[in-house]
Amino acid sequence: MGKDVIVACDFASAAETMAFLDKFTDCKPFVKIGMELFYAEGPQIVRQIKARGHKIFLDLKLHDIPNTVKKAMAVLSGLDVDMVNLHAAGTKAMMTAALEGLTRADGTRPLLIAVTQLTSTDEESMRSELWIDRPLDETVMHYARNAMEAGLDGVVCSPLESGKVHEACGAGFVTVTPGVRFADGDKGDQKRVATPAMAKEIGSDYIVVGRPITKAEDPVAAYRRCIAEFVG
Ligand code: C5P
Repeated sequence: MGKDVIVACDFASAAETMAFLDKFTDCKPFVKIGMELFYAEGPQIVRQIKARGHKIFLDLKLHDIPNTVKKAMAVLSGLDVDMVNLHAAGTKAMMTAALEGLTRADGTRPLLIAVTQLTSTDEESMRSELWIDRPLDETVMHYARNAMEAGLDGVVCSPLESGKVHEACGAGFVTVTPGVRFADGDKGDQKRVATPAMAKEIGSDYIVVGRPITKAEDPVAAYRRCIAEFVG
């Protein structure tokens, strides 16, 4: 699995996103489009960024009945994105339906990645609201194994967990890891962070980096620094 840096384009509009991407004149970063931008601009934003030559991780975290997810995934696959995701909590039936929907007539499909438990969910709210009595880390690994058994390509997790995920699900099971900060950078609202070099060491396959690049004085230099530390 080739390692890469995915830039989280957490912008509110196409105009802001394009102004940001215009700075990259001699490289085409892999970009993540999230709900805010997708819901604001619609599928056209995906086509526009794709037409500029970028790979795209469409981070919409689907979670619905299997038939609905299958049909929605077929639409996303038609947008020619490279990576999409869903909630593993939707069950293995939903995950296999998603894979079916994603697979194009020629047999190709985007990578399909599962969200296990959101990092905003802590053990206490998991127990008292979701009524899940197992420890959070066991739950995360169990959901990761479900995703692997359903045939998915990997999970979103903390860079600090990517080693454990590979142990449980195999070296080829992809780990996509946000929560990345430079050693001399601001952590912001991220709590459990790793530098790009640490993420590489622990075994992340893709790092998702937002503000350390988008808010940098020189975003292209910050991106290059991530590539140098993570990909080498
Ligand atoms: O700006 P920052 O580098 O923190 O951005 C990280 C990106 O990864 C954001 O788009 C955020 O929504 C996403 N993300 C995350 N933690 C998760 C899942 C997704 O930070 N557990």
